[in-house]
Amino acid sequence: MIKHDVVVIGGGLAGMRAAVEAAERGADVAIVSKLHPVRSHSGAAQGGINAALGNAADDTPESHAFDCVKGSDYLGDQDAIEAMCDDAARQIIWLEHRGCIFSRRPDGRLAQRPFGGAGSPRTCYSADVTGLVILHTLWEQLERFGVKVYEEYFCTALCVEHGIGTGVVALNMRTGELELITAGATIFATGGAGRMYAKTTNGYASTADGLGIAFRAGLPIMDMEFVQFHPTSLKENGVLLSEAARGEGAYLLNSEGDRFMFKYAPEKGELASRDVVSRAEWTEIMQGRGIDGCVLLDLRHLGREKILERLPQIRELALDATGKDAIKEPIPILPGMHYTMGGIETDIWGKTRIDGVYAAGETACVSVHGANRLGGNSLLETIVYGSRAAQHAVDYVKSNGAAKPSERTLKAEQERIDEMLARQEGERAPQIRKRLNATMSENAFIFRDEAQLRKACDDVKEVREAIKHVTVMDKSKTFNTDLVGTMETEFLIEAAQCVVHGALARTESRGAQARTDYPKRDDEKWLVHTLVWRTDGDPRLDYSRKVVFTKWQPEVRKY
Ligand code: FUM
Repeated sequence: MIKHDVVVIGGGLAGMRAAVEAAERGADVAIVSKLHPVRSHSGAAQGGINAALGNAADDTPESHAFDCVKGSDYLGDQDAIEAMCDDAARQIIWLEHRGCIFSRRPDGRLAQRPFGGAGSPRTCYSADVTGLVILHTLWEQLERFGVKVYEEYFCTALCVEHGIGTGVVALNMRTGELELITAGATIFATGGAGRMYAKTTNGYASTADGLGIAFRAGLPIMDMEFVQFHPTSLKENGVLLSEAARGEGAYLLNSEGDRFMFKYAPEKGELASRDVVSRAEWTEIMQGRGIDGCVLLDLRHLGREKILERLPQIRELALDATGKDAIKEPIPILPGMHYTMGGIETDIWGKTRIDGVYAAGETACVSVHGANRLGGNSLLETIVYGSRAAQHAVDYVKSNGAAKPSERTLKAEQERIDEMLARQEGERAPQIRKRLNATMSENAFIFRDEAQLRKACDDVKEVREAIKHVTVMDKSKTFNTDLVGTMETEFLIEAAQCVVHGALARTESRGAQARTDYPKRDDEKWLVHTLVWRTDGDPRLDYSRKVVFTKWQPEVRKY
């Protein structure tokens, strides 16, 4: 049996930041990850990380917090938002002192670019490869502290004994054996759920693993109906072209050559918040002003030098996928599934309702993003809340001591997986996932209505039933990706169930939830979080958690 003080599930930015914090505080900490940490999806984060550094005179943690509250369409918990914005500058300096190479201004200060919905340019960046640069910085810190990494371990279940988290069960993908990993505290940092959709900016590994595990273990999932569609993804493959392009001054054009965003957001234009820009693009396309189902991202006026210095990756990504060189011609783009604002419900220390169990990063819902996340805040959340979850977890282990494990969950998981592998006939997971992807893309997209969401709920119910009889064709032990992919599909179905039921029940439009049948925000009824609890049938929804207000009352949201 493997034993540590703290185990972190997931090796992306939230996971590595949590592990480094725990190690700095003297804990025996390990990471359990299905990927090598530097291959985590955080490495695909391009545009930057927000912090009010005071470079712009009127930029303060308070103005940053206000932008987040407004961006969240007043659904974000203001205590959590303030905690994040207050800690942002300290975390940037922490990263910088550990060797993170941020882009700089000619005077030597850290460079910051404007991002959508922000009152000041406050997005720190490393050209357009910010996530990758931070990921490598944190990897070096893991090495420095000698943090043990269980790489290519796929986590299947959380162990809970007498209401206390005692670790996880994980499949060692090299040997095909299930192993019990016990810990005084467990932190989930498994990233997003983008692969619920047919096209997404998310990597193949973004399969809601932690979220699915927590849901099955009886934890509520919060605010999953709020799915972010990033305004600029490539039609060909769904790959992200960073908001940094618009931050540096790129235009969005329709088929008539108009910079249409000023019709929808007279002040901010292309730099309105993402929900606003994606809806505007989709409206243009639906009203016949698109070009082959896209609009155009035009960078040409930025000039070759600026594009090559600040946006080299997106030029290459567009060139590879479309054959178009952004220096010379506009790039066709459309909104693409990018981020889930919701996740495992936590408090402002990343603590869940099970003692000894925490969550941080995209898999968690703290909630700092509410109904719509501002660009540059996801990296910030991973760093701030990865660190905060670890601080609490280490204190918890110090006062509660080692876990008192049992092999109960290991045995149950072994039986479940043996049964799955023994089945000789039945549908295979990729076919089931295809149906899930189709209904999510069709019925839980930018604009939704009751009929679509009812259809999505029925379809998710059908795939949830189908996966119970799934067949895994590959019966072998070593790197059985058929088995792992099947379990990933199970997790995606759990996540999708939370999205569609939450979206159907919320009869209003707020942030990324745009109901064509309920086009207005309803503050009387809906300033509450959606908590989704798992049952064997349809999930149970609960609205007992109210939004936390500290300084800002809801206002009409305009950009
Ligand atoms: O557009 C981007 O670079 C993405 C940033 C983010 O999602 O925060």
